[in-house]
Amino acid sequence: MIRVLKGLDYSLGGYKVSRLEHSLQTATRALRDNASEEMIVAALLHDIGDKIAPLNHSELAASVLKPFVSEKTRWIVEKHGLFQVYHYNHYYGKERNLRNNYKGHDFYTDAINFVDKWDQASFDPNYDTMKLKEFIPLVGKIFSRDPYRVF
Ligand SMILES: [Fe+2]
Ligand SMILES: [Fe+2]
Repeated sequence: MIRVLKGLDYSLGGYKVSRLEHSLQTATRALRDNASEEMIVAALLHDIGDKIAPLNHSELAASVLKPFVSEKTRWIVEKHGLFQVYHYNHYYGKERNLRNNYKGHDFYTDAINFVDKWDQASFDPNYDTMKLKEFIPLVGKIFSRDPYRVF
C-alpha cells in the first residue's frame, strides 16, 4: 500500500502539488479535524487508483478499503469523485450538481465535508503537510484489522 502511494509522487497538470502530496495533505487535514483513524487512512488512500483507473479511481480506492472500514467510510471514498465535480464541472460546460442526487442519504453531509474541507482544499503547496512516515503506523493498524466485509 505504501509503495503504491509513493508511486503517486508525480505532478498533476495544473496543480502545484504532486498526487502524493495531495494525498498526504488530505489525510493531514482529516487528522487535524479529529476524523476517525480509518477516515484518516481513507483520506490518505482516496486517490490511490489514480494512475491505473483515472476515470473511476474512487471505486478502486473504495474496494481496497472495503474489508477494513465501515460502510460509511467506504461510501464516502467511493463517491468522492462524483461529489468533487461540483468544484470544476461547470468550467467544462457540464453538470456540477451530481451530488444532489444523494441528498438525504445517511452519509451525504460527511461526503460533502470530505470533499470540500479536505480533498478539494489539499492542493496548497504552502500547507504544513505531515510526512508519509507519520501515517505508516496508522495504515498498518487499519489493514491489520480482521477483514469483515469481503462477502
Ligand atoms: Fe480523487
Ligand atoms: Fe483527491
